[in-house]
Amino acid sequence: MTGTPPLTIARTITDLRTITKNWRQKGETFAMVPTMGALHAGHLSLVEQAQTLADHVIVSIFVNPTQFAPNEDFDAYPRTEQEDCAKLANYRIGAVFCPSAREMYPDGFCTHVTLDGPAKGLESDFRPHFFQGVATVVTKLLLAAHPDLAIFGEKDFQQLRVIQRFAKDLNIPTQILGGPTMREADGLAMSSRNAYLSVDERAQAVKLITIMRQTANRLQKGDLCKAALEDGMQALKEAGFTPDYLSLHESHDLATFKGASLTQEQIGQFRLLAAVWLGKTRLIDNIEV
Ligand code: PAJ
Repeated sequence: MTGTPPLTIARTITDLRTITKNWRQKGETFAMVPTMGALHAGHLSLVEQAQTLADHVIVSIFVNPTQFAPNEDFDAYPRTEQEDCAKLANYRIGAVFCPSAREMYPDGFCTHVTLDGPAKGLESDFRPHFFQGVATVVTKLLLAAHPDLAIFGEKDFQQLRVIQRFAKDLNIPTQILGGPTMREADGLAMSSRNAYLSVDERAQAVKLITIMRQTANRLQKGDLCKAALEDGMQALKEAGFTPDYLSLHESHDLATFKGASLTQEQIGQFRLLAAVWLGKTRLIDNIEV
C-alpha cells in the first residue's frame, strides 16, 4: 500500500477544468458527487459507488445559497471543510471542488432553470424556491466539470428525479445515477441536518421511519390508501412531529397515486415520501412501497 495522495482542492471553475481536461485527454472517465458538505456516511457511500464506476471522482462542496429561502437555515448550515477533506482523504478522490459563492454566482448573475413535472408538489409545496436553486446549481456544476456520471442520493428522492428529468430535458451529457439511503443503526436516515437535533429530539426522530414503515406495510397489504395515509399523518402528530406531507407517488415520475389501494402488481413501483418538522429541524425521508 502506498497510501492515498494528498487531496487536490479546486476553488475555481478554471482550475477544475484544467484537472478534468487532463483526464479527458488521457481517455479517463470521471464521476461527480455534488454535496453541501458536513459529510457523513451517506455522502461517503455515494463516493464509494462513484469510485467503482469511474477512473476519477470529483466531490463538490458548496452550500448553495439559491436553494435556501431567506427564513431558512443557510447561515446555520454546518460548514466543516477541514473535517470533510479529512474524511475524503481516506478515498481515492481526483479533486474536491470548493467554489466560493462569488465563483458560482458572480455579479450580475440572473439565469435560472425553471422546472415542472417531478418538481411539482411535495417539497415545492413547502419550499417553493428550492428546486430552482438546486437545478441551477447542479446544472452549473455539471457544465463546469462535464463528468461522465453524477451520483445523487435516494434520500432526497424528489431531488434525484428532478435532476434526472432536467438533465435529460437540457441534453446534459452526464448520466445521473441514484444511490441508496444510508441510515443510522436505529433506522433514521443520515442527514447533515440531524446535527441540529437535541438528544431528546434525536431519540424521537426515529419514529419517522418507524411510522413510514408501518404505513408502507398497510399499503402493501392492500389497505385503503387514503385511510393508511391519514392514520400515518395522525401517528406522526402523536409522535411529536409537525408533518408537512406523507404521500404516495409513482417512483419513476412522482405522479400522485390516484387509486383506492395498491394491487399486488403495483407493489415495488411506488414511493412513500414524508417531510416533518421536529422542533426547529425539518426531516425528510422516503421508502419504496
Ligand atoms: P446534500 O444534502 O449535502 O447531499 C448531497 C448528496 O448526498 C445528495 O445527493 C443527497 O441525496 C445525498 N445524501 C444525503 N443524505 C444521504 C443518505 N443518508 N444516504 C445516501 N445519500 C445521501 O442534496 C444536496 O446536498 C444539494 O441539494 C445538492 C444536490 C448538492 C445541490 O446543492
